[in-house]
Amino acid sequence: MATNSKPNSNPKLLSKKEKYELLNEKNALAEKGGGEKRIASQHKKGKLTARERIDLLLDKGSFEEIGKFVEHRATDFGLDKEVYLGDGVVTGYGTVNGRLIYVYSQDFTVFGGSLSETHAEKICKLMDLAMKNGAPIIGLNDSGGARIQEGVVSLGGYADIFYRNTRASGMIPQISAIMGPCAGGAVYSPAITDFIFMVENTSYMFVTGPNVVKTVTQEDVTSEELGGASTHSTKSGVTHFASPNEVQCLKDIKKLLSYIPQNCEDKPSAYDYDATEELRPALDHIIPDNPNQPYDMREVINNLVDGDSFFEVHKNFADNIIVGFARLGGKSIGIVGNQPASLAGVLDIDASNKGARFVRFCDCFNIPLLVLEDVPGFLPGTDQEWNGIITNGAKLLYAFSEATVPRITVITRKAYGGAYDVMNSKHIGADMNYAWPMAEIAVMGAKGAAEIIFRKEIAAADDPEAKLQEKIDEYTAKFANPYNAARRGYVDEVIEPHDTRKKLIRAFGMLENKVDTLPKKKHGNIPL
Ligand code: HXC
Repeated sequence: MATNSKPNSNPKLLSKKEKYELLNEKNALAEKGGGEKRIASQHKKGKLTARERIDLLLDKGSFEEIGKFVEHRATDFGLDKEVYLGDGVVTGYGTVNGRLIYVYSQDFTVFGGSLSETHAEKICKLMDLAMKNGAPIIGLNDSGGARIQEGVVSLGGYADIFYRNTRASGMIPQISAIMGPCAGGAVYSPAITDFIFMVENTSYMFVTGPNVVKTVTQEDVTSEELGGASTHSTKSGVTHFASPNEVQCLKDIKKLLSYIPQNCEDKPSAYDYDATEELRPALDHIIPDNPNQPYDMREVINNLVDGDSFFEVHKNFADNIIVGFARLGGKSIGIVGNQPASLAGVLDIDASNKGARFVRFCDCFNIPLLVLEDVPGFLPGTDQEWNGIITNGAKLLYAFSEATVPRITVITRKAYGGAYDVMNSKHIGADMNYAWPMAEIAVMGAKGAAEIIFRKEIAAADDPEAKLQEKIDEYTAKFANPYNAARRGYVDEVIEPHDTRKKLIRAFGMLENKVDTLPKKKHGNIPL
């Protein structure tokens, strides 16, 4: 019989010694999951078992299991003879760097990690505990989807999880790691959680697999191309992190946890930092003399933050915007920076979505926001307009406008057009706005502006080219600086780059006890 359970044992007829033996035997059976052969097959695929993953994730010896002896209740298709203790998911709690974490880990060696009614109940029980006790929950996914033999109760089980994911959203951090298959409706639980990690070459996520794709659209595509880690970390943006292997993936999850609090009423932990390093002279040499020359905003970030604390999120998706966590003066911050080294740092649909999602996470979990701005505007074109840059750009605007955490902006160079407003301007509630002396804050670039407002004058000139240049120079002299904005208080201070770290540490310190609340309402209606 294919089973690791002992359904016929009757503890009433056993001696005390035998009862202890039965318990030990059940524990050992549960820990073996689907058996040695399937464990070996899992390892052969380059994958760890559900329990090995938990051991690597949590502090040594801290795991406490819940529901180890749970068995499914199904009887159809011979399932009454195939029962595995734990029913394909290991659930429980433990600590990561001493902090309480709830974790569930699907066991592919039991029915391919497929989700049954009881498997879902175990996950839901854990989610309820995590919400009641205010601690992050991490799901390690490795599953063939709905337990096919169980039918609708399995679908119901998924919906029970989705419902809780939604209820928990913004209340406790929810993290998903995809460490094997994740297909069909199963993808929607990770999609609702705050961050998704995927392992390269051994995990995939899709709503319909390659065979259905072939039937419906005649496309030939592999699982990896359709929904592997590289696809979702670059093309779709579904995953926030792609790790080369499972060990690195679990390390990355632990690193992420170090920046975020336990729940929405908590603050992230503070760490030691080197207070002698307040001035950073290297920052004076990053912005090129030519305002049209690109530079890497990551250089600015790494020179501003504590040590090598920058932890980038969504690194390979929409790289015209950079988002990630870092520590400044020992405290967690979320950074959103335009990236002049990619598409000149322009805002487009993907960049707006990426930025908005990150801003909302930080605001949910009391992580102050730092915006580093060098943006020439929104990306023009039919592709962007027809795919909804209006609605999608509005998401970023909305996300900043509703954020109540401390918010600071540094304009390193360009702040043009609507993008000036959107990128955490004073007008949409930023607390402190700084600009570097090279900042250019205007409705549009000088050439475009001169061509529009001096069109007749340029056309009537003896030398239109020379006239255009004269008008470009005039517009540049008037607007390509931070002082018009500073005069009106839209910029609080114009500062030298090397002073910026010191200014930011002090300003975030000044804002540490900020209290700001949104008008009373049920919830806002972000343009989705
Ligand atoms: C029951 C399953 C299962 C499932 C796999 N198994 N998926 N049992 N329900 N959904 C079992 C297999 O019978 C096998 O059992 C063991 O798990 C390992 O599976 P293999 O096929 O041998 O592994 P592998 O070759 O690695 O292929 C993995 C796989 C494939 C690609 C995931 O198993 C597969 O295609 N499974 C079906 C996927 C699927 O269609 N799921 C339903 C999706 S719809 P033994 O005894 O041999 O070890 C869905 C709807 C959710 O999920 C809706 C929510 C709203």
